[in-house]
Amino acid sequence: GVIGVLLGVIITVTVVLTLPLKRTFIRRCELFPGYDCENLWSVFQQAYVGKDPCNVPMEAYDPLIAAAPFKPACNRMMFWSKTKDLVQDFIKKRGCFLTLEKTLLGSVLDDLSWCGEEGSSETFKRFCRRKCENNPVGSFWRRASAAFADVACGDVTTVLSGDIETPFDPKSIFGSIELKRFKSPRVRSLKIVLVSRKKALSNCMNPSFQDLQKELGPGITYSCTEMTESQFNECSSAPETCGPCW
Ligand code: APR
Repeated sequence: GVIGVLLGVIITVTVVLTLPLKRTFIRRCELFPGYDCENLWSVFQQAYVGKDPCNVPMEAYDPLIAAAPFKPACNRMMFWSKTKDLVQDFIKKRGCFLTLEKTLLGSVLDDLSWCGEEGSSETFKRFCRRKCENNPVGSFWRRASAAFADVACGDVTTVLSGDIETPFDPKSIFGSIELKRFKSPRVRSLKIVLVSRKKALSNCMNPSFQDLQKELGPGITYSCTEMTESQFNECSSAPETCGPCW
């Protein structure tokens, strides 16, 4: 009868909306040996399922971070801001650097969207609004970035964009979360690589780097190297060692 049809519709909608995200999560997770991916999915879901999508704080992901903690990779950690595509291409060729997107948690959720709804046990992957600060996706990236930066050590690299007038943005995740968590003497130095694609709008003398220095913990030095996109990419075809280009 009507109820049967309704149930069928509800089940179909649930499957269509939820499964693709879970499938992607598990498929990407299984590339990392030694993790219980079904369990990680369930811990992940508990952060936002059944909640108002404007009310998922970054702490909601604490159990997920605890279930798949980040491991330090001294001298090899790479951060970025406004340069995701550039860094992604670079990383494919230059395997030695580690970005958040190459870690288990970063890679399973890279470029995905998800949210729950009050009174529902479903995960939606479309029509997730991101207007409010505590949305499930934004909170995840803030939480994961904090944990990733917490394990930073040695010489740390960040790739910033020379195509904008203010390459260091104190309100970005890099400026507001990651940079503040670098601690001396664990972290020795910050190497800024300022990459311009077209006509450079900023260089290493940019006043925003004074703000950066103020936020950088005492005892950590910083350096800055300007590069064009092609210089940066050529750098990526160098041998599997980190750093000789900057
Ligand atoms: N996939 C989808 N969205 C992402 C991803 C990702 N892999 N990483 C970050 N985001 C979201 C975040 O909400 C982030 O604020 O996209 C935004 C990118 O904004 P930018 O201003 O370009 O960069 P920033 O805010 O500084 O964030 C990038 O945080 O993700 C970490 O380690 C990463 O250093 C990097 C920084």
